[in-house]
Amino acid sequence: MPVSTIEWEGDFNGSVKIVDQTILPGMLKYISCTDVETVWDAIKKLKVRGAPAIGIAAAMGTFIGIRNIETDSVSEFLNKFEDVISYIGSSRPTAVNLFNALERMKKTANSNENKSVKEIKSILLEEAIKICDEDKASCRSIGTHGAALIKDGMGIITHCNAGGLATADFGTALAPMFTAKEQGKKIHVFVDETRPLLQGARLTAWELMNAEIDATLICDNMAAHVMKNKKVDCVIVGADRIASNGDAANKIGTYGLSILAKEHNIPFYVAAPVSTFDFNIQSGDEIPIEERQPEEVTEGFGMRTAPQGVKVFNPAFDVTPAVNIAAIITEHGIIEKPDREKIKTLID
Ligand code: MRU
Repeated sequence: MPVSTIEWEGDFNGSVKIVDQTILPGMLKYISCTDVETVWDAIKKLKVRGAPAIGIAAAMGTFIGIRNIETDSVSEFLNKFEDVISYIGSSRPTAVNLFNALERMKKTANSNENKSVKEIKSILLEEAIKICDEDKASCRSIGTHGAALIKDGMGIITHCNAGGLATADFGTALAPMFTAKEQGKKIHVFVDETRPLLQGARLTAWELMNAEIDATLICDNMAAHVMKNKKVDCVIVGADRIASNGDAANKIGTYGLSILAKEHNIPFYVAAPVSTFDFNIQSGDEIPIEERQPEEVTEGFGMRTAPQGVKVFNPAFDVTPAVNIAAIITEHGIIEKPDREKIKTLID
């Protein structure tokens, strides 16, 4: 990868270093977050974004939030730890990787309650770094499994950014494409620009061009025309939360793309690590959908494109039903025609 999206820099007193994705592709700039408020703000404002990267930021942010708690009492420490967890959990609601990472940090703290506060703090830093390292391994594995679905000469559509910028390594939906390229396959990728925040245009197009993968940018409303008239052999997207029945939330517009793919008999693949699954919910109906500020729609990137005072609806995600998904590509393998049983069998 040309950039490392998120990493822990230094030791106990170190910081979480992230790429500021709000100013890409114009500028590649890193931010070092040394307090929990800066991490929260970075997640909220999409400086760090993409489900797995948000999960890692949440874990590292938790450590930053607890490292200066001054007490020798483990129970007092654990109470304050809970406050940090709830605070980070209030940043963004949809990507379950964030909550899965917070839950993992919580379990780690609780299962070490017989140790000193100082030791628990160090163990929590190790756990956050482990979450980051595991994500790197998952990306590689998703790449290998997913590349098996890509044949030389294929045309692919992707939506939003589920590449290296959304993870600690080379992504989920883009991972099979990067691996296919490493295997010497020639592919062509249509990149949905992804209104309103243009993660496709700003981030995915940039990543694919850096990797020298043939890519063409399209506006979201061109996808049907492209599927009908150009060579599109599959769609590959990421996910922010997958319910136990296989319904998958991803960036707004993904559901529509899945309907278009069905209409054109094009297989629709979702690539995601196990940390994106939510086994506490039965279906996509239970996935909380983030709604963001109207200004993202009316004056994105500083230019007003709608009348003052117009009513706006700005959901950041939608849910693709499992029936529209040909396969889910995970680090453990591929789940074809996903359903509750198959998901449980592969992931358990
Ligand atoms: O609002 P964002 O940019 O965080 O949304 C990101 C997406 O929808 C991605 O497709 C998803 O998180 C998968 S990232 C590997």
